[in-house]
Amino acid sequence: MASACAVKCMAAPKYGGSGAFSAAFSGSNGAKLGGSSQPVNSVAGSHRVLMTATLPPKAKEVEKGKSHFHIREVHEQVLHSMPPQKIEIFKSLEGWAEDNILIHLKPVEKSWQPQDFLPDPASEGFIDDVKELRERSLELPDDYLVCLVGDMITEEALPTYQTMLNTLDGVRDETGASPTSWAVWTRMWTAEENRHGDLLNKYLYLCGRVDMRQIEKTIQYLIGSGMDPRTENSPFLGFLYTSFQERATFISHGNTARFAKDYGDVKLAQICGTIAADEKRHETAYTKIVEKLFEIDPDGTVIAFEDMMRKKISMPAHLMYDGQDDNLFDHFSSVAQRLGVYTARDYADILEFLVKRWNVEKLEGLSGEGRKAQDYVCKLPPRIRRLEERAQERVKQGEKCGFSWIFNREVVL
Ligand SMILES: [Fe+2]
Ligand SMILES: [Fe+2]
Repeated sequence: MASACAVKCMAAPKYGGSGAFSAAFSGSNGAKLGGSSQPVNSVAGSHRVLMTATLPPKAKEVEKGKSHFHIREVHEQVLHSMPPQKIEIFKSLEGWAEDNILIHLKPVEKSWQPQDFLPDPASEGFIDDVKELRERSLELPDDYLVCLVGDMITEEALPTYQTMLNTLDGVRDETGASPTSWAVWTRMWTAEENRHGDLLNKYLYLCGRVDMRQIEKTIQYLIGSGMDPRTENSPFLGFLYTSFQERATFISHGNTARFAKDYGDVKLAQICGTIAADEKRHETAYTKIVEKLFEIDPDGTVIAFEDMMRKKISMPAHLMYDGQDDNLFDHFSSVAQRLGVYTARDYADILEFLVKRWNVEKLEGLSGEGRKAQDYVCKLPPRIRRLEERAQERVKQGEKCGFSWIFNREVVL
């Protein structure tokens, strides 16, 4: 097997993008897979293939066999960019991961379950409890529901995230039941995460405020589309990405908890807060892995950090689609930005937090390239904040968009 192969799609303009949030972060510009392919160059052990985009940069409907699929555009597809010898780092960290990472998982018997927060369908009082839940949810405004649904859909695309972790060289679950610490982590992490979408889905179903069928369609489309995190099978890039994302979800669920409390739904606040606490625990584990990588290979890790930040951290659900709105993710992001559930400022704050968490400013003994990468990431948070302010000024005030998730009612972006 070729040790390193890359498929590169020609960049094309970003599809959509209306809000400040999407303007600053959606790392989702690029082209569609399609057209002819031809090798173009070889870089540092990776063979790249150029695939010329022949279609406009909107999502396309393609016919494969008898079925229609909605294929979303992706960035260049770079594979196996980590030098093969670095796989040894992860093999040698097996014992370390067992002692330092697996401890952040909670035993099933001590874990909360969605049922702990929901009316018990086997109890006499089920119907009354559901009525209470529905009454409590009446004060939740439409823009908040859009954020909650978007967060739920993001959680429900969990098969994609487990797949993503299993693309990473040196840490993937080779059999589906591999006993390595890395594989155990990935499966147990997935099992913990599985409760998030499950709980939010059941809550939203019972509250009766949203169009469940449209939401379910969005989930099916999203899992079918996958995601494009641009982690190149590299656990360096992969764990930087997950560190960032777990903190992003911690912030987002924490904010939906806070707002739920303000709107008078304390049970929903508890639900979102409980999920946020899981995300925090996962963030601790992933940031610890990257901390270890900084210790073992500071140069390689800081260069990977720069690479990931230059490409921008795409949100896991950036390919979402509901069968109607080709810019659904951008619209959802705009509402989350405006409401303050997840904002451009949060993105900069996460980066700043991680730079401090890993002591990036204090790294010593770096190569020239490593020092440049260090300088880039350390100076990035204020740059992002300046860009955010400018993007905010460009946001069209009062622009509205209908969301199928809430029966096409319009919400200010
Ligand atoms: Fe989650
Ligand atoms: Fe998570």
